Amino acid sequence: MRTNKNAGFFPGAQGLILEEPLIFELSVPGRTGYSIPEDDLPDLPESVMPSGNLMRDDIPGMPEVSEVDIVRHYTRLSTWNYSIDHGFYPLGSCTMKYNPKVNDRTVSLPGFANLHPLVPPKHAQGALRLMHELGEYLKEISGLDAITLQPSAGAQGELTGMLMIKAYHESRGDRDRSIVLIPDSAHGTNPASCTVAGFTTKTLTSGNDGCIDLEELQSQLNDHVAAIMLTNPNTLGIFEKNACRIARMVHDAGGLIYMDGANLNALMGIVKPGQLGADILHINLHKTFSTPHGGGGPGSGPVAVNAALEPFLPIPRVIRTDDTFAWDYDKPMSIGQMHNFYGNFGVLVRAYTYIRSMGAAGLREAAETAVINANYIRVKLREHYQIAYDRICMHECIFNDLNQQKFGVSTLDIAKRLMDYGFHPPTIYFPLIVKGALMIEPTETESIETIDQFIRAMIEIDRETKSQPDLLHQAPIRTKRKRLDETLAARNPILRWTPDLNFPSQPD
Ligand SMILES: Cc1ncc(COP(=O)(O)O)c(C=O)c1O
Repeated sequence: MRTNKNAGFFPGAQGLILEEPLIFELSVPGRTGYSIPEDDLPDLPESVMPSGNLMRDDIPGMPEVSEVDIVRHYTRLSTWNYSIDHGFYPLGSCTMKYNPKVNDRTVSLPGFANLHPLVPPKHAQGALRLMHELGEYLKEISGLDAITLQPSAGAQGELTGMLMIKAYHESRGDRDRSIVLIPDSAHGTNPASCTVAGFTTKTLTSGNDGCIDLEELQSQLNDHVAAIMLTNPNTLGIFEKNACRIARMVHDAGGLIYMDGANLNALMGIVKPGQLGADILHINLHKTFSTPHGGGGPGSGPVAVNAALEPFLPIPRVIRTDDTFAWDYDKPMSIGQMHNFYGNFGVLVRAYTYIRSMGAAGLREAAETAVINANYIRVKLREHYQIAYDRICMHECIFNDLNQQKFGVSTLDIAKRLMDYGFHPPTIYFPLIVKGALMIEPTETESIETIDQFIRAMIEIDRETKSQPDLLHQAPIRTKRKRLDETLAARNPILRWTPDLNFPSQPD
């Protein structure tokens, strides 16, 4: 009997549980996945294998396997993960919406995929035109005057924006503005970006309605405030109803309004952040504009600004003269370059495709549907789970675990049990100001049937909480890996395969 610590298990024929050996363990000396006519052999190089010192010392050699073995190995591996193409992914604050395949089709066109970034502009007119037009669409959606497509994520967009705010105040001789006000509901990247840019942050405590408390804001405003960083809708899924008033108050005190646009999916086509008073806004193309992300990228966080901040945008900027496009490096007040070359071009092509295929009406409908879906879940589940802020929400709704705690069940247990029902867990324990938060963002791309299935699973989990809480403590029980020791997994991650010397290369 094989006993390999690396092997997983899978259901075989007639319900038998079979071991699932990994590729090195399938290796049988002399077995190959190809055949080459004898006559061609003399023409082939002796070995295309890396020399010994490129191989890990603990691996005996490359696995010797048949074609079907390798096909099944990789196909099986591909099913070990969960993705947006696999099922519902109701994260909050991270807009994991379906990425239409047409986006990948366009980015694979040879003219885009094979274009070298050093190609002279006259041979890259199509790519430059795409970037220019994408910038124009994003300006229209944001209601702002100019844009850079360079930053490669929301957080880098925040840093770009903060450096521009600094340069703006300094250019006016206003050098004492070192403070940025940030609500306590903000995403962690907000204070981090401000700090990296050299600012000090001050936290604004949210009011009972989840919005900024205007009195507290007023008490914090002075000549040292460089900006406020506002997320709208905020990360409680609530629209900052006083956004225009807040903008007037901060502007009157000489500060600027930075809007974190990571939640633009709730607003696009309906509200333009520029009209709410934003001076500067980052947009997460990898969320709102349906380009793939997760696991670290690649992303894209364009930053749109009003005319006063335009001179500080990163270089180079794509410019249009009649029907010709070129790079403009001649911007003496620019903060410089934030990314090598011009940003994550592949993400830009995908976002452009999405905007063109949706059209203005389609973008608005997507935002409206995202908001309706979140409210549908909020209302259907509020009998079972306590709502953090019981009012109409925008694109995401937040519950807590107060009802379930009475039975010894926590948010973590609920999230783990959802995996047994085939759903990716939502964001948990964020925003930090909601104790035991379960933050759900269904997005517009899910059907009513999928959302209803999710709701049924959540209701069933609430029932299990009362009838068999221990089951929830053990969950997930139906997944390949059961409940992990999260501390051990974080402190001592085992990230690569190691050979088990007891594992025979031939079946017994
Ligand atoms: C509200 C908010 N701001 C900023 C960010 C940071 O964006 P990114 O992950 O692209 O750096 C996120 C990401 O989840 C977010 O939800």
